[in-house]
Amino acid sequence: MNVRITPGERLSGNATVPGDKSIAHRWLILAATAEGKSLLRGLPASLDVRSTAACLAAVAPAARPSLEAWAEKAASAAESHGSTWNPTATIAAAEPLEVEGEGLEDLHQPASDLDCGNSGTSMRLLMGLLAGSASTVRFVGDESLSGRPMDRVAEPLRLMGASVETTDAHAPVLVKGAKLKGIRYSTSTPSAQVKSSVLFAALSAEGETVLEEPAPTRDHTERALAALGAPVVSSPGRVGLRSFQHEGFEATVPGDPSSAAFLIAGAALTGSSMIITDLGLNPSRMHYLSVMERMGVRTTLHVERSELGEPVGTLHVEPATSLTGTSISGEELPLVIDEVPVLALMATHAEGETWFLGASELKVKESDRLRAIASGIWSLGGHAGDEGEDLVVSGLGLTGGRADAGGDHRMAMAFAVAALAADAPCEISGMEAAAVSFPGFIQTLEALGARIEVLEK
Ligand code: S3P
Repeated sequence: MNVRITPGERLSGNATVPGDKSIAHRWLILAATAEGKSLLRGLPASLDVRSTAACLAAVAPAARPSLEAWAEKAASAAESHGSTWNPTATIAAAEPLEVEGEGLEDLHQPASDLDCGNSGTSMRLLMGLLAGSASTVRFVGDESLSGRPMDRVAEPLRLMGASVETTDAHAPVLVKGAKLKGIRYSTSTPSAQVKSSVLFAALSAEGETVLEEPAPTRDHTERALAALGAPVVSSPGRVGLRSFQHEGFEATVPGDPSSAAFLIAGAALTGSSMIITDLGLNPSRMHYLSVMERMGVRTTLHVERSELGEPVGTLHVEPATSLTGTSISGEELPLVIDEVPVLALMATHAEGETWFLGASELKVKESDRLRAIASGIWSLGGHAGDEGEDLVVSGLGLTGGRADAGGDHRMAMAFAVAALAADAPCEISGMEAAAVSFPGFIQTLEALGARIEVLEK
């Protein structure tokens, strides 16, 4: 899918974004393994979340009928008319899902491989969940996911007693579940996926599991477990958990702050105001607002309610007059890991240079984002470079051009919003990747005022 974006229009108004992908994976897992019925509202129809739903349907027989029916509806809404542009994509997100769970002990051997598609979160979290089951499960993924490191999850799960065979440290991964025991483990990479994988394994392990990470990461798993009454003890960079069987629950998935980041950037780049409602406001996901504030973007947050331990509310963006470059330290990076593409593309329009220090983790995301950001910026007529583990972006603007998303949803969306402030139209190919986390992204931009032509479906 190729689009041409013509700059000169404002991106402003009231918006909502699809449900949070990170939270949806976790709540789906918790719903399918609860004892009793759960009701989830606001699940996004995004491809990644559908991967988790499909994998859970293969291992949780009681939950299967409703998971399959939900995934099918979400898929047809997101993909009807042969495209992901159909505005009904977000309607699927509104479909509530009622799931029957029969507990953590009732996970079954799947009839075939579990295909996690493009979703690292699905694979890593489900590896942890199934490590404590009586099943043998082979996990596979698409080309991008098959190139991402799996040893960071395999190692702690092996220490807990599971057999985990990777393919040269990557997928396909064969997990043979076992009776697990709790461990004390320090990760070398700060990763919420590793932490959550170990926590899901700890739910069925004997004794306490304690995990330490070198820098704090998003805490959705801990929050949900605590809200369900689990004996979880957490402080920044450290979490402990003992075995626990939760009951069914009801919750509405809040809007995804990482998706909102693209709209906020679009508003800031076009000097506009914006209001985003029903948004997840978990502090471990909002650090990008501090970075944007240093760049000259003022936002205010109002927490209105809580959903399974997650604060939810409204975000206001004030019109920005100018943007300034900044430096993002290695310690900050895990807290803005998914927003680096949009921050970097925003930085092309800021005064001075912007540095992302110690950013090598970006090389193992959905694409090598260090390289993709730098080369995409050049393709759109800007200046950027990767210097060892650091990324530097010059704020000399974008003169316009053509960039390819390379199958990476966040690259596609970052290019699209940066194009709103370019000197000339920009063409972006591979825009369909946005559906991985933000089905209906292009329609949302259009509804907020952007001028976009679809060149090729
Ligand atoms: C995620 C954690 C992050 C993030 C990913 C989602 C999660 O990955 O980049 O998009 O839901 O736990 P890492 O924890 O591996 O950095």
